[in-house]
Amino acid sequence: MRHLIDILELSVEELDSLIATAMDIINNPEKYAHKCDGKKLATLFFEPSTRTRLSFEAAMYELGGNVLTMADAGSSSAAKGESVADTAKMISCYADIIAMRHPKEGAPLVAANNASIPVINAGDGGHHHPTQTLADLLTIYREKGGFNDLTIGLCGDLKFGRTVHSLISAMSRYKNIKFVLISPDELRVPDYVINKIVDSGHKFVQLQSLEEAMPQIDILYMTRVQRERFFNEEEYLRLKDSYILDIDKLKTAKSDLVIMHPLPRVNEISVAVDNDSRACYFTQALNGKYMRMALILKLLGIE
Ligand code: CP
Repeated sequence: MRHLIDILELSVEELDSLIATAMDIINNPEKYAHKCDGKKLATLFFEPSTRTRLSFEAAMYELGGNVLTMADAGSSSAAKGESVADTAKMISCYADIIAMRHPKEGAPLVAANNASIPVINAGDGGHHHPTQTLADLLTIYREKGGFNDLTIGLCGDLKFGRTVHSLISAMSRYKNIKFVLISPDELRVPDYVINKIVDSGHKFVQLQSLEEAMPQIDILYMTRVQRERFFNEEEYLRLKDSYILDIDKLKTAKSDLVIMHPLPRVNEISVAVDNDSRACYFTQALNGKYMRMALILKLLGIE
């Protein structure tokens, strides 16, 4: 039985295979409409979500399966003190696969260690978000045709942004990648993530200026400042609008720049940018559904 807690649990070959399945789903959705007949996905979300939970649920429905959803931890027995371990044991009696989001780093791993069905990490605190990375990789594949020889700018809250940590891990395995890490000093990428870049031998620079980075990058991955992870509201208010991508800032960008964002957006991309042909963030969210379909099939062992 396989779980997915960290994107690095999937080999590059397995990622290629998931992308191939997702592309086949896009081109031949009818082939997949009954692959999960009789199967149930439980979505256990202890933190807010729109895209991840609903795209997991849409994915399972489009595969012919059903969904048990717990969107509000306050209405579950977690509110009475039930542990993540016991919750995972219980849900194993009712469902075939779990997607779990939790504010505590490591909670989905605890669930995986106690469940008798596959567990997918749908985001744990400021740690990992591997299925967002699957969405990101399919977007890069569809826009750039592959993953080598790219300069990737990651901008915003690189400290708490779990999607950034998972994407850096995944992209570090490809060839000739340069990371341009754009953030205020207070929101720099944690050392354990920097170490992954160093160990992989790729180049990286840490900048504060988005304008300075713009001309050189092939992919711009904007992120929201993660209010819910700050201990100090004043610090959040001071940093929240550090970067706002607008049409003016795109004047020096490459004509084939790919603009991504895991969403939700707050202020960091002006709505006017949505009409730019380089804006890919809504397609990126759609790509998440296809990759989650491919992942559900893989973890359930369905060909
Ligand atoms: N990208 C992402 O995780 O979005 P949600 O928080 O809406 O699931």
